[in-house]
Amino acid sequence: ARSHDLAGRTVLVTAGGTREPLDPVRFLGNRSSGRQGVAIAARAAARGADVTLVAANLEVGVPDGVHVVEVSTAAQMAETCAEIAPRREVIIMAAAVADYRPDRVSDSKIKKEQSGDELTIAFTKNPDILRDLSAARVDGQIIVGFAAETAADDDELLELGRAKIARKGCDYLAVNRVGWHEGFQRDENSVVILAADGDVVRRHEGDKMSVADAILDVVAG
Ligand code: C5P
Repeated sequence: ARSHDLAGRTVLVTAGGTREPLDPVRFLGNRSSGRQGVAIAARAAARGADVTLVAANLEVGVPDGVHVVEVSTAAQMAETCAEIAPRREVIIMAAAVADYRPDRVSDSKIKKEQSGDELTIAFTKNPDILRDLSAARVDGQIIVGFAAETAADDDELLELGRAKIARKGCDYLAVNRVGWHEGFQRDENSVVILAADGDVVRRHEGDKMSVADAILDVVAG
């Protein structure tokens, strides 16, 4: 039934983790490999969609048959998404975006000889791409966000997820539990998909390809 259920649909997927430069050789990053977003792009393309993948520093290869736009920082991702999103029916934001970036990027390598025993870095808030795209949603668009939370149990996970979807204003939120041993860098994933009203529309556990299909099933309706 799934085989070509997304035929003709235009899909934007973000994947990977942004890197915020400190100087020409250093950055602040995160542990996102890009596997889940890449799996979503691959499955959406396999199901017939016209897929654009906005890729930030992927540790995995990009799938065949998708358009790829490479970015590195949150600001670049924001700019690229703002340009592409209005012409996409489905937007799935799987990237781990840095909430803050260093105020200034040093032109030359930061030297310990100059900084001494303590180095202080000031940060500026990055745009919340998901929230901004949701606020600018065009008619009929479906916007899916992700939440990776370190929750003690399922109740806390749902509570955090419900607060987040309300804040972001997206249509669905795929919530998964992360920790030192869950979520990142792994092939298995477990998600709860929430609707805008906070209802659980789907739970799924499995490899990242099957999680991708579960999310796309919700989008396909
Ligand atoms: O607020 P938090 O980072 O937990 O939200 C995660 C969701 O928001 C993900 O879908 C992520 O891609 C998106 N996000 C974003 N821009 C940010 C931070 C997060 O689009 N600056």
